[in-house]
Amino acid sequence: MKIIEARNYEDMSKKAASFIIEKVNGSSAPVLGLATGGTPLGTYRFLREDHLNNQTSYQHVYTVNLDEYVGLSPDDDNSYTFYMKKELFGHIDIPASHTHLPDGMAADLQGECRRYESLIERLGGVDLQLLGLGMNGHIGFNEPGTPFSSETHVVELTDSTRKANARYFDSLSSVPAQALTMGIATIMRSKQILLLVSGKKKAGILAKLLSEQPNEDIPASVLNMHQDVVIIADSDALSIVKERSMAF
Ligand code: PGA
Repeated sequence: MKIIEARNYEDMSKKAASFIIEKVNGSSAPVLGLATGGTPLGTYRFLREDHLNNQTSYQHVYTVNLDEYVGLSPDDDNSYTFYMKKELFGHIDIPASHTHLPDGMAADLQGECRRYESLIERLGGVDLQLLGLGMNGHIGFNEPGTPFSSETHVVELTDSTRKANARYFDSLSSVPAQALTMGIATIMRSKQILLLVSGKKKAGILAKLLSEQPNEDIPASVLNMHQDVVIIADSDALSIVKERSMAF
């Protein structure tokens, strides 16, 4: 694992955007695995600004997102489809037909999970998967205890994840109870992984992920078994790691 220290959230976001832009400019048909949540917002802002100022083109880029809520329509402003349009796709020149998220409105959710796995395979796999880190070590919506062998599946969201995400909804009861997510095995098949971590509140879980043997109680610990992981973390997120001089 390669760890890049950023000064703060802005610096982390800028470094992450540069990393992605390099991949976009350096490949003929890159497949980007994208993430939602608070962490990548700054990265997407830098990508928008770069597209505007430097005309980086995304016409040759394909994307697959990690996850989507079950039961929210694409124009619901809490759906991840809406988030991606608002934060990125609506501002760059990527063809809409190149962008993919699991369909949380599918009548047959199991069938949708299989379709999503075959779609990723048909695209030739993910070249670069962007990840955030949950407070409990989750990646995507893969909560503690999710088998490392899991592929795209339906999850019952835990109370802690629903509470953490309730800030975006009118009330806790309107946070969906289920989501579709790429599984741990799906994520691990990505050729390269870029994990972004920011803030003091993530310092404990980042230290844990870097010090523990891979185990299913900390989903992100699986990343220790991947050949090509880059972590961009700000100094707040790295504070405990540095205290214990685990990685430096
Ligand atoms: P956050 O979420 O980026 O909003 O902190 C990360 C996650 O839960 O995966």
